[in-house]
Amino acid sequence: MMPTKRKNISKQRMVSVEKGKTYRIRLAVESDREFIDGLNYDSFKVAFQLQEAISDDEAYKKYRKIEDEDPLDPFGAGHIVFIAENEKDKAGLIWLAKREPFYVFKEPLVWIYNINIKEQHRGNGLSKILLDRAEDWAIEAGYSQIGLHVIEQNKIARTLYEHRGYEQISQHNSSCFYLKRL
Ligand SMILES: CC(C)(COP(=O)(O)OP(=O)(O)OC[C@H]1O[C@@H](n2cnc3c(N)ncnc32)[C@H](O)[C@@H]1OP(=O)(O)O)[C@@H](O)C(=O)NCCC(=O)NCCS
Repeated sequence: MMPTKRKNISKQRMVSVEKGKTYRIRLAVESDREFIDGLNYDSFKVAFQLQEAISDDEAYKKYRKIEDEDPLDPFGAGHIVFIAENEKDKAGLIWLAKREPFYVFKEPLVWIYNINIKEQHRGNGLSKILLDRAEDWAIEAGYSQIGLHVIEQNKIARTLYEHRGYEQISQHNSSCFYLKRL
């Protein structure tokens, strides 16, 4: 099967991040699916292991159960993934989707399903670049709000969001829900 060609596939951005490194930000294509799944698992694993002492194998089983019960397709309607890469390597991604109001979110919004930078590329400012890209996409798509869920124990991610203007609007157990008005 031919890879799905997105309408604005040519809309790529070259970005220079901290420490003089250059990355390309582009839309994901079908051949990125394994990379997207891998980083989706990694973010679940981070969340599980910050909450309880479980092995990678146990974390993977837990992740598979959640995915199998409620599968989400990063190439489904309303979903979009941006990939950050350099000439050698895919470095990270942000996975977004358009959503109707739900829970404490009273207006349609763009939802960040995942943001994950591979360990060797962390600390270069890439996540901030990907959040900017996501917010631009949300505005271009006519949305004025962007939201996400993160666990309370994920201090690094929470600091990132709070410094980028995301406000925690609800908490349920260890689940923190953030919103940014664009
Ligand atoms: C959270 C994550 C995406 C940050 O990516 P990154 O590209 O390394 O982050 P950046 O270099 O852009 O730094 C962004 C901000 O994150 C915070 N941060 C990043 N690394 C940090 C660290 N080691 N300690 C404390 N804060 C840190 C800082 O607030 C930083 O902003 P600053 O440089 O202005 O202080 C990355 O650590 C990651 O992929 N983690 C695993 C997956 C995850 O937890 N995803 C979030 C799911 S909700």
